[in-house]
Amino acid sequence: MHPYSQDLKQQIRTVRDWPKTGVNFRDITPLLQNPSQFRKLIDLLVHRYQSMHLDAVAAVDARGFIIGAPLAYALGVSFVPVRKSGKLPFSTVKSAYNLEYGQAEVELHTDAFAAGAKVLLIDDLLATGGTLLAGIELIQALGAQVVEAAVLVELSELGGREKLAAAKVPVFGVCAFNESE
Ligand code: PRP
Repeated sequence: MHPYSQDLKQQIRTVRDWPKTGVNFRDITPLLQNPSQFRKLIDLLVHRYQSMHLDAVAAVDARGFIIGAPLAYALGVSFVPVRKSGKLPFSTVKSAYNLEYGQAEVELHTDAFAAGAKVLLIDDLLATGGTLLAGIELIQALGAQVVEAAVLVELSELGGREKLAAAKVPVFGVCAFNESE
C-alpha cells in the first residue's frame, strides 16, 4: 500500500443507502475539496507513471475526467475522454457493458490514439470492472495498448480486479474498501 493511501482513503465519504437502499456510495468530493489531498493524489499518480513512457491518459466519463485531466497535463501526454454513449461528435467505436440493472455503453473517437500508443486508463472507482473492461476493449480495438488501469477507489469484493486480470491488464488501486467499511 502506498504511504499516502490511508490519508487519501480518509478523505472518501461513505454515504449509506444512496442512490438506493443497501448501497454504500463512496463519495470522492471531500478529497477534491481538500487542495493538499487532491494534490497528493495527482502527485502520487505522476510519480507512478512518469517513467512509463505513456502516450495518453484515457479517462472514463464522468468522475474519471477529474483525475485523468490533471494527470495527463502533469505528465505532458494526451488526454482522451472515454464517454458515455451519444456524447462524441466524430466517428466512434462503442462497447456495451452490464450495470446492476440493464446496460450502458461507452464510446471513443476513432482517431483517439496513434497505432501502438501506450495508454493508462483511469477512473474514480472499480466495482465489478464492467466499465473499465469496456474501455479496454475500445482502446485495444483502436490498436493501442493499455499498460495499466488505475482507480482511486477499489471495491475489493466485487471482482473487478480479477476481471481485468483475465483481460491481462494490471490494476493500480490507490485505496480499497470492503463492504463492511
Ligand atoms: C461508476 C464509477 C465507475 C463505475 C464503476 O460510474 O464512476 O465509472 O461506476 O462500476 P463497475 O466497475 O461496476 O463498472 P457510474 O456508472 O455511476 O457513472 P457516472 O460516473 O456517470 O456517475
